[in-house]
Amino acid sequence: VADEKSAEFPSLTDLESVAATRVSERVWAYIQGGSGDERTLRANVEAFRRWAVRPRTLTGISSVDLGTTILGRPVSAPVFVSPMAYQAEVHPDGELGVARAARDHGWLAAFGTLSSLSLEQIAKASGLGPRWFQLYLQPDWEVSRRLAERAERAGFSAIVLTVDFPVLAIRDRQARAGFAIDGSVPIGNGADVVPPAREAARDGSTYRLRPEAETTWEVVERLKAASHLPVVVKGILTPEDARTAVQHGAAGIVVSNHGGRQLDGTPATIAVLPEIVEAAGPRTEVYLDGGVRRGTDILIALALGARAVGVGRPILWALATGGGPGVGRYMERLSDELATCLLLAGRASPTEVNRSLLRAAGL
Ligand SMILES: Cc1cc2nc3c(=O)[nH]c(=O)nc-3n(C[C@H](O)[C@H](O)[C@H](O)COP(=O)(O)O)c2cc1C
Repeated sequence: VADEKSAEFPSLTDLESVAATRVSERVWAYIQGGSGDERTLRANVEAFRRWAVRPRTLTGISSVDLGTTILGRPVSAPVFVSPMAYQAEVHPDGELGVARAARDHGWLAAFGTLSSLSLEQIAKASGLGPRWFQLYLQPDWEVSRRLAERAERAGFSAIVLTVDFPVLAIRDRQARAGFAIDGSVPIGNGADVVPPAREAARDGSTYRLRPEAETTWEVVERLKAASHLPVVVKGILTPEDARTAVQHGAAGIVVSNHGGRQLDGTPATIAVLPEIVEAAGPRTEVYLDGGVRRGTDILIALALGARAVGVGRPILWALATGGGPGVGRYMERLSDELATCLLLAGRASPTEVNRSLLRAAGL
């Protein structure tokens, strides 16, 4: 007999299919879609299958502690909410639901420049909960600078600079369903804040992008000077860029291909994680997002050197299914599953997970 909780909230396995029935086709295409042929979107999930886990038995371990720190701040699990735009399109609770759930469960959550609500409203809902602010550079640097300043004042503890978005990729699934990232979807951070739209002006064979696309790595130093917050660079896929990010003072790196929504054909994030961890060196935390769905995926990413992993779409599936409380139940489920996986693997905490946990799956 299903208990009340599982009756109102599907298992992690069912979450995606139930969520599909709760939103319009337009919004579902926005959540699910990738770019191009969606090969990177699929690869993110599939690449975890290349690893198998080597459990140790009779270890005497009878309890686990999922707690860790991210940039020195305690969190209840090595998992965070990746930044995602327009959450009120998914459910009226929007970012407030996600912020409250993260606060109640001690999860770090990142909220974006393109949030449906203002970063101040989100900060209020997340109380003392750990939160990051994700920045899309604006055409006018002064607008970017003010966003960083506001984030610091509102108690966000890091600026996440997304660098994989000089121009919006071509996303057929979204376009077919009529979801346009063009300023028609309301955002909460003010009238002067604009989405990084596909505004490439075509002049013969030349594409001209908006001014922020001219930005180079010195922006990391500029951003660091704009507030006292550490800067985390999101969207790194090569060791070259990882080294450069570290040289320019990034406190952390998110290995990410934007959930397969930007350049299609980029590698699965889990495939490039080891080389990026090595390039970043021991003093820079490296995180990963893209395709993380189960407890085992988290184990694999931690074993390959991630400090923590971000989850994207599953948060929106949970939001679509049960609003803010649904997101909270999802967080409980995923944390439970991670704890169970650790116990079954014979490891007492995320810090005990290293490369010895893995072998090639031999697929
Ligand atoms: C609907 C949606 C909106 C997103 N919006 C943003 C955004 O505004 N800024 C950003 O840096 N990443 C954004 N992302 C990318 C996520 O932060 C993250 O990299 C990705 O979703 C991780 O992959 P996953 O969905 O497979 O977990 C978005 C992703 C989705 C699915």
